[in-house]
Order: sequence, then C-alpha cells, then structure tokens
Amino acid sequence: MKKVSVNDLKVGMFVHEICGSWMDHPFWKTSFMLESHKDLLTLQKSNIREVWIDPAKGRDVSQVNASHQNLAESSEVLVEMEAEEISSTPSVPRKATFFDELDRARRIHVRSRGVVNSLLAECRMGLPPNLEEAEGLVEEISNSVLRNSDALVSLLHHKPRSSYPYLHAVSVSALMVALAKQMDFDASMLRRAGLAGLLLDAGMALIPPEIVHKQGQLTDEEFATIKTHALLGRDLLFRSGVTDELVLDVCLHHHERADGLGYPDQLHGEMISVHAAMGAICDVYDAVTSERTYHKGWAPNYAIRKMADWQKGQFDRTAFHAFVRSVGLYPSGTLVRLKSGRLGTVIEQNDRSLLSPVVKVIFSIKQNARIEPVLVDLGKTDDSILGAEDPKKWALEDMAV
Ligand SMILES: [Fe+2]
Ligand SMILES: [Fe+2]
Repeated sequence: MKKVSVNDLKVGMFVHEICGSWMDHPFWKTSFMLESHKDLLTLQKSNIREVWIDPAKGRDVSQVNASHQNLAESSEVLVEMEAEEISSTPSVPRKATFFDELDRARRIHVRSRGVVNSLLAECRMGLPPNLEEAEGLVEEISNSVLRNSDALVSLLHHKPRSSYPYLHAVSVSALMVALAKQMDFDASMLRRAGLAGLLLDAGMALIPPEIVHKQGQLTDEEFATIKTHALLGRDLLFRSGVTDELVLDVCLHHHERADGLGYPDQLHGEMISVHAAMGAICDVYDAVTSERTYHKGWAPNYAIRKMADWQKGQFDRTAFHAFVRSVGLYPSGTLVRLKSGRLGTVIEQNDRSLLSPVVKVIFSIKQNARIEPVLVDLGKTDDSILGAEDPKKWALEDMAV
C-alpha cells in the first residue's frame, strides 16, 4: 500500500482506504477503483487530503510520474492542459472497436478518391461541384468517426504525396467531425462541420498548378496568389449553390489566426467564428503531419506539441484543447517507447486518460529486433509511455496501422 496526496491521484488507481472521517467525503465505500474523472475531482475537492492506494490492483504512482515527466519535457502548455482541463473531461465513448471500424474506414478511404477528385476537377473547370455526392461522403465519414474516430483518422494520416489534395480534404473533414463530436455539436452541426472540412480548400483547385506543386520556396508574389484560394473558394462554393453560412465562413476564414496575422481579413481572436477556428486547427494539423514536396511530414505527437506552443497566438484555446482530446496526446499511428523497453504503435485512444492508449507492441529495444505484435492496453497494465520515437530511427516506417 502507498499513501498518496489526493493531488497525485489518477484515474485507474485503486483506492484502498480514504484517510479521514466518512463525513469528509461523499463515497459510500472507502475501497474502490477510481474509474472516472468526476470521482477524482470529487475526492480532490473534498476535505480529504490523503488516501492509501493499492498498486497491485490499479495504477501505480511511479507510472504516472514517468508520464508526467515526459509531458513536462514536451510542452508546458500540455502539462497545464492535462492538469486543468483534459483530465476533468472524459472523451466521448466509442461505439465500435478500432479493428471493427478499420474495414469500413478503408472502404470510405477508397471511395473518397473518386468523389473528391471529380469534385476538384469540376471546380477547376468552373463547373458547379456535385454537392449531393459530397454530402453523401460526409455522411459516411461522420458515421465512421462517430463509431470510432481513430480508425479513419489514423488511416488518413498516411498519404502518398500524389494523393495529398483529395486525401487532405477527406482528412480535414474527418478531423472536423471528430472535433465537433468532442465539442458536443448535434448531429446536423456535425455534418455541416464535416462538409466545411471537405470543401475548405476548394479554392486551391483554381490556383495555377505550377505554383501549388512548386518545389522549393515560393516567391512573395506566388504566396500572395496562394492566399487568394480562401476568397476564390468561398465565391466558387457560393456560385455552386452552397448556401450554408457555416461552410462558406470556414472556407473564407480557415487561414485567419487569433493574433490577427492570418488572411484574407486579418481577423483577431473573438472575431473569428468557432467553426473557422476549428477549421484552422484541423487544416494545420493535417498539413504539417503530411509528407509534401517541400515539407517532411511531422509525427502526430510532435505536431500536437508544436501546435500547443503556437496555440496562444494562433488558435482558439477551447477548440485546441478539444482537438487534443479528440486526437489524443499520442494520436493513433504514433510510435512510442514504453517503460518496459519496447516500442509500439498507438492504435486507439483511452476514453479516460490521454496518457494510456492501446498500443500495438512491435519491437524489443533490448533484443534490437521486431517481435510478434501484441496489443497492450496501457490503461490496464503497469507499463507506460516514456515518449514518442521516430519510426525512421528504428526502420519501422512500414509498421504503421
Ligand atoms: Fe487553405
Ligand atoms: Fe489546407
């Protein structure tokens, strides 16, 4: 048994005994598994200051500290978030397991190619895009994300460079739905956010391809041309019969930044709608984690950390925190090093703790060799994540989901 301060308690610990009078807390038994953040907060707000935990029946303190140390190294902002908000708001529970959803997500992935490519081609030729088809695709994306967001989102993380334009649209759409779900949007708002994500870069189809696909640095003039895609896209959608203000607004304002340094209208913080702010986050996350001619795709965890550091100036705080809750601190697809000396790929987020996802263990550092893959639920073991690893360093690029 270990005596710990209530401030060091974490979900997943087994409370053996509460130190203090029964009148000081609302629990009807003193020995129980701490399963929800609500119970954790109740304990922390009560007059109880210490409890005995049983590490044999639940998480241990050292395990939590290791994770926090790693977080502290990664970003002060994330530590603050973990402490303040994330732990108090559990993620939305999943309706299907990752592996159950994966096949359906693969079919959406394949189907999206035709739908989005013809949509972009129509835009390029000045024809009104087939919105019914786009809405049908968004419906499928939304349903998949509602069942299990990790499957489609992690599948879309890996895109060959040549598929970027259409997969970027599908990926931003899926991220928007996941974020809208996290922010408690109702079903109709969820689909509108998904459609906005799918169409936000429609204006890029009108930018000369030699600028869009240019290798190397853009000139100031070329960059100014790229920036016109926001307004061009909004006008194109409007002319094509899109009347939903939310979709038009996200298309026009997804490059606005809270510090007023975005474009095209240099809007500041509060002036940017919550939907446009959500679009900005999903668009940037997908862009920086994708492999482009001029940019090496960042690992998902690295992207989250970098964006956390930019958060204050660029992104809406509430939307960014919700985004981290929806994709995770170690988003699915991240290669992580475990305390047990093994490496694994994050498969599925844990609804109760951002630090304890389900990991597919694939490599032993001690043996310096791949091992028979095994699924480990970090919420139910003593093992924990020490940090993210570069798949290239271990020649494990092929071991993604
Ligand atoms: Fe854009
Ligand atoms: Fe974009």
